[in-house]
Amino acid sequence: MDKIERLLLENKAWAQSKVDGDPEFFKKMAVDQKPEYLWIGCSDSRVHPAEITNSDPGVMFVHRNIANLVVHTDMNFLSVLQYAVNVLKVRHIIVCGHYNCGGVKAALSTQSLGMINNWVRNIKDAYFTHKAEVEQISDPVLKLNRMVELNVIEQVKNLAHTSIVQKSWNDETIPFVHGWVYDLNNGRLKPLITIQPGSEIDSAYRYDFKS
Ligand code: CO
Repeated sequence: MDKIERLLLENKAWAQSKVDGDPEFFKKMAVDQKPEYLWIGCSDSRVHPAEITNSDPGVMFVHRNIANLVVHTDMNFLSVLQYAVNVLKVRHIIVCGHYNCGGVKAALSTQSLGMINNWVRNIKDAYFTHKAEVEQISDPVLKLNRMVELNVIEQVKNLAHTSIVQKSWNDETIPFVHGWVYDLNNGRLKPLITIQPGSEIDSAYRYDFKS
């Protein structure tokens, strides 16, 4: 059987199994979504947010790109963020990176990759910020994996620097912003950082909403 046909066949089997488990499953699912989480993850095929957290459909609003970046000029990402925060009112935002990330690996190398250089440049900026620490690590695997962690932490900070998150902190004291990293070798998630609503933001990035 063609592999693409197999996907469609598996979908039929999955939908049927859901109905077998709960005849009202899709009826309930179709009404509305009220996800508690916004997940910002890498596009890597091995890191499926719902799969690795055992989450049902409807639990997570998801944005994925190469190396789980929060880029303040990315209209696609900003639209997802604004909708998740202002309309869905998610309680938690999770930035999840993963060890051995190809995007981060590319940022640590001098290899030119064409157009994608411009995306990876965002990770290079994080690398530049933390170069003194990262360059002290001689083992290439440990060096890459520490940069993966630092990249997650930088993206969490980028979230806290958006006016969307700061306005929500001001008005509703949500969302909490978390940075996690996923280990491909054992399937475990490791928390790296949490920024609480209302945390102090450097004045360079802080917005004042009082008139
Ligand atoms: Co990746």
